[in-house]
Amino acid sequence: MPNIISICGSLRKGSFNRMVMTALPKLAPAGLSIKEAPSFADFPLYNADIQNSTGFPAAVNVLAEAIRAADGVIFCTPEYNFSIPGGLKNALDWISRLPQQPFIGKPIAIQSASPGPLGGARIQYELRKSLVFLDALTMNKPEIFVGNCVAKFDEKTGELEDDATINLIRQQLEAFSSFIERHGTKA
Ligand SMILES: Cc1cc2nc3c(=O)[nH]c(=O)nc-3n(C[C@H](O)[C@H](O)[C@H](O)COP(=O)(O)O)c2cc1C
Repeated sequence: MPNIISICGSLRKGSFNRMVMTALPKLAPAGLSIKEAPSFADFPLYNADIQNSTGFPAAVNVLAEAIRAADGVIFCTPEYNFSIPGGLKNALDWISRLPQQPFIGKPIAIQSASPGPLGGARIQYELRKSLVFLDALTMNKPEIFVGNCVAKFDEKTGELEDDATINLIRQQLEAFSSFIERHGTKA
């Protein structure tokens, strides 16, 4: 059974992207397990001096190991200033310097949510660009942009309740499952 990990690009408690991420396990097709990845919240800012003196921080190795062990990774991330949120970019920067860089050949799917109308369309292309350098295998379609997202969650529970979004996410997860079957090396 393919096991997927999900990485949320937002660190804040009330994150809409986390609400999307939380909805994934029950929208996944039978046989696809989706669990949250270990957090990157405690990664120090990337500095080659840290890497060269005390080595990679433990939290970097923990996330890297989870990525290596997964059949695929789903990013649920906001767009910051038309680009990748700093915390997430910092995490990718640390991971990119590891020996046995864990993203090589790894199937990836991307989702983004924003209160704005485009749903974070621009961050997805920035993230794809970094994932090219990391030699990951990013699925092209279907794309998930949750625009005008505030109205799409239950105000009290944070549950995703927009049927069109739910259907699109179901389609993407089905496609990701097939993508992993076709291209994944671990499944
Ligand atoms: C530093 C910063 C930059 C932002 N830049 C963008 C942006 O470029 N495009 C966009 O759609 N929303 C932008 N926003 C608004 C975020 O989409 C919004 O805060 C969203 O709720 C963040 O995701 P989260 O709810 O998962 O934390 C920005 C927010 C912050 C804090």
